Amino acid sequence: MMMQMMGRILQRTSDGSYTVYDERVGECFHSVHGAIQESEHVFIRAGFDWCNLDSVRILEVGFGSGLNAYLTLLRSIELNKQIYYEAIELCPLEYELVESISEGLAHPDFFCLLHTSIWNNNIEILPRFVLNKRHVDVLSANIIGPFDVVYFDAFSPEKQPELWQENLFKSLFNAMDNPSVLVTYSAKGEIKRRLRNVGFIVERLPGPPGKREMTRAVKRIK
Ligand SMILES: C[S@@+](CC[C@H](N)C(=O)[O-])C[C@H]1O[C@@H](n2cnc3c(N)ncnc32)[C@H](O)[C@@H]1O
Repeated sequence: MMMQMMGRILQRTSDGSYTVYDERVGECFHSVHGAIQESEHVFIRAGFDWCNLDSVRILEVGFGSGLNAYLTLLRSIELNKQIYYEAIELCPLEYELVESISEGLAHPDFFCLLHTSIWNNNIEILPRFVLNKRHVDVLSANIIGPFDVVYFDAFSPEKQPELWQENLFKSLFNAMDNPSVLVTYSAKGEIKRRLRNVGFIVERLPGPPGKREMTRAVKRIK
C-alpha cells in the first residue's frame, strides 16, 4: 500500500505495522524495523510502565501518527489506570493517512477517535482517558504540567537539532513531578549529556529492534 499526502508517505515496517515517512524532513515517524515494536519498547515499557501511579499525567512531544497515544490507551485499559495525556504537535497528520494506518490495528475505532478529537481541549476519549492535543510549536508552548511521564518523540537530533537543546529539556524538567521519567529513542552521547546538565539521572537501556540503545532520564530530587 502506498499513500502520499503533502510530502508524507505511508510506509510499512518490519513488524507489519505502518508508519509515516516525512519527505520534507527525510525521516520516518517510527523505526522501519517495527513501528509498534519500537513504540511499545521505548515509550510504553521503558516509560509508561516505569510509573506505578494509578493516575498518570503524560506529555508527548510530537503526537505524529498517534501510535504512542494509541498504545498508551490500550495499556491503560489493561492496567485500569486513569490517564491525562497531553500531546504537542505542530503539523497534524492528514486524516487519509490516519485511516490507512488504522486499518492494520486491533482497535481502529480508538485510533481514529484520538485523531478526530478536537484540538486544544481536554477530551474524554474513554471515561478514564483524557486527551489534550495541543496544536502548537513545542519551542513556544507554555508547558505547565506537572507530568509523571514524558515521551520525547521529536525527529532525530540530526534532522531537528533545535528540539534537542538544553533549554527545552530544562522546561520539560521543570514541568515534571518528582519523581518522574522522560524516555526517548535517541541514545546519542551529546543528548544524554544535555539531559544530565539540566538535572536528570540518565540511564542507557537496550534499544528496540534495529537499535542498540535508548535513553531513560529520571527526575528524582531528594
Ligand atoms: C517522530 S514524529 C512523532 C511520532 C509520534 N510520536 C507517533 O506516535 O507517531 C515527530 C513529530 O513531531 C512533530 N514536530 C516537529 N517539529 C515540531 C515542533 N517544533 N513542535 C511540535 N511538534 C513538532 C512532527 O510534525 C511529527 O509529527
